[in-house]
Amino acid sequence: MKFFVDTADIPEIRELSDLGLCDGVTTNPSLIHKSGRNFLEVIKEIAGMIEGPVSAEVVAEDHATQMREAEKLLTLGDNITIKVPLTLDGLKSCKALAANGTPVNVTLCFSANQALLAAKAGAAFISPFVGRHDDVGYDGMNLISDIRMIYDNYDFETEILVASVRHPIHILESAKIGADVVTAPAKVLKSLASHHLTDKGLAAFTADWAKTGQSIV
Ligand code: G3P
Repeated sequence: MKFFVDTADIPEIRELSDLGLCDGVTTNPSLIHKSGRNFLEVIKEIAGMIEGPVSAEVVAEDHATQMREAEKLLTLGDNITIKVPLTLDGLKSCKALAANGTPVNVTLCFSANQALLAAKAGAAFISPFVGRHDDVGYDGMNLISDIRMIYDNYDFETEILVASVRHPIHILESAKIGADVVTAPAKVLKSLASHHLTDKGLAAFTADWAKTGQSIV
């Protein structure tokens, strides 16, 4: 399973890359706002830092302007994935971009039927938002299971990119279901390394090592 970092924060991307935990980056207008950076500049910088795909989202709601925005965003690096919303205009843009070989990430997916439409439009990635689904009383992971089943039934190549990931259980369940990618904040990805028994065991080893009076280097 691939790990994408859901951020526009350059130091976070660098840290996760150094840990081998950054197979790609996803951004959205809210994350760009949070970064306080110029959109085009920050996307170009991220695209130059990593080899994997960098999702940059169009902000227009109509197909014609989405296509013009996509054209501009694609000049920012050869690893740009165009992110479009799951609307009829977004699907039309997805189909047109995919036909030209541009990878498209269809975002704001909240139903398996929406995911089916994205796959039929040739999306490289579908982004179901599990956390926001949980927020309103549904089980976001059921959505991932349904999409996995549908994509497998028809051999769709669209990758399931689990988004709106809030905690480690979302990642564990995504891996068990067989999602292709999770995108998560850096702090959630780093938290996967934590276990209190690891800390306890390490403290015991360190204390016993000190008693030996030895050093390795
Ligand atoms: O990838 C989409 C993600 O950024 C949304 O996350 O936590 O705002 O629902 P959240």
